[in-house]
Amino acid sequence: MQKLMPEEAVALIQPRDTVGIGGFTSAGAPSTLGSALLAYAQQCWKNGRPLALNIITGASTLSSIDGGLAECNGIRTRSPYQADRLLRQKINDESVRFWDFHLSDFPQALRSGIWGPIDFALIEAESVDLQGRIILTSGVGITPTLCHLAKKIIVELRDDSTMQFQGIHDIYEVRLPPRTLPIPLTQVAQRIGTEYVQVDPHKIVGVVQGNRPREHAILDHPTPESNRIGEHILRFFAMETHLGRFPKTLLPLQVGVGNVANALMQRLTEVDGPQYEVYSEVLQDAIIEGVLSGRIRMASGGAFAVTKSCFQTMRTHWETLRVKTLLRPQEITNHPEIIRRLGIIAINTALEVDLWGNVNSTHVCGRQMMNGIGGSGDFARNAYLTIFATPSTAKNGAISAIVPLCSHVDHIDHDVDVVVTEYGLADLRGKTPRERAVCIIENCAHPNYREALQACITSDRAHIPIDLSQAHRFHLNFLEQGKML
Ligand code: COA
Repeated sequence: MQKLMPEEAVALIQPRDTVGIGGFTSAGAPSTLGSALLAYAQQCWKNGRPLALNIITGASTLSSIDGGLAECNGIRTRSPYQADRLLRQKINDESVRFWDFHLSDFPQALRSGIWGPIDFALIEAESVDLQGRIILTSGVGITPTLCHLAKKIIVELRDDSTMQFQGIHDIYEVRLPPRTLPIPLTQVAQRIGTEYVQVDPHKIVGVVQGNRPREHAILDHPTPESNRIGEHILRFFAMETHLGRFPKTLLPLQVGVGNVANALMQRLTEVDGPQYEVYSEVLQDAIIEGVLSGRIRMASGGAFAVTKSCFQTMRTHWETLRVKTLLRPQEITNHPEIIRRLGIIAINTALEVDLWGNVNSTHVCGRQMMNGIGGSGDFARNAYLTIFATPSTAKNGAISAIVPLCSHVDHIDHDVDVVVTEYGLADLRGKTPRERAVCIIENCAHPNYREALQACITSDRAHIPIDLSQAHRFHLNFLEQGKML
């Protein structure tokens, strides 16, 4: 296999190529190749020949790719998820084409050919042998699918003597219909695949030595609001267990991405209680802490999407973590069949929730893309119980997270069981739309918004008794005056 300098490797890429980036978030993404690709894209831009690549990933990726390339017209099309401020701006001013996609479904979409040929896969690996067996690192995402579909693969080797990833992965790929088979995963800790990704070694056109520091997640500290949200969920779990609706050992938990999800997971692991399992998309700091404290028996995810300090902690406790954690491709972490079979309790974060239980996770005021749906739809639709959490307000109270009618709907009322804010928890199960509205206002809305929300419910007889003239009043107010009331 040919050893290349990073600059030589990325110079193989041509403008308008389709390039897949391995890993999931920045975890397991090739940061040395990312930096070299950025320098190359800047040069192309200066020369009046922007790279304008079609970039596909597992989820969000390195800032050198999403932010860096976006700045020098290096991205023409992007899918399926991102979380970068600059790229977000380019998507919203329509200079980057963005296709927001359910993460579980994305590998199948790639296999179906809808994206056309994939020219390059840029991946990070701990090792690669002459038979084409690749051991990945801290994130999997769509890497196995990319490696199978890409015409050419460039591998960035990153061998870390204090943290050997070999053995942590369970690589299993789903076939395209009509050859699809049941996925034989019935327990969180079960292995169904291989430790490595098998590729045709002839497709590996270059191997680069990784020398750039890893990029890590940045997470805010828990806030009083996120702690209170955690308390409400804990009380709810205790009640459901008492009523015999949850087993005493709880069901496997999935917890979404971002600050709120991490903070409330931290609250869930801090208090005493039975051990439980996690079957999630990303393993953020709080999950690692839970595994190390012994509260979490086993955690299966797609990536260690952790902060720098948590990554250092992981190094120290790697021997414990390597037997209590597993990394799988996103097609498996988020697969509807597995989520339904394991009976996952899914907790994700919303931008806004309406009085009827619909949830918007993606579009501010129904127009501006935030990040994308990610895996929230995979879990919301298929979980045993679906919880959406959010602080009751955003932007210092100018925005209410509880609105009369969502300005964009990602998760319909049929998929949402419980809504929770720092004020309380609304259990929507078995309730009519009118009952849901009252329950959400009384338990979840910020007191400053309760009266205005109440005024949007009409006394006219209707299954969904919304006053349509007021449906988007909050959003229109915000667009006109910068505040919803
Ligand atoms: N309108 C406008 N902005 C809002 C808002 C609303 N209703 N609610 C929150 N925001 C803003 C916040 O003010 C914050 O802005 P800032 O970055 O300028 O400070 C930003 O959105 C993020 O909010 P935060 O409260 O820090 O939440 P978070 O980091 O937990 O992210 C989501 C929340 C919804 C954006 C994030 O969870 C997401 O992208 N979800 C979709 C994908 C998903 O759920 N994946 C998990 C599946 S496994």
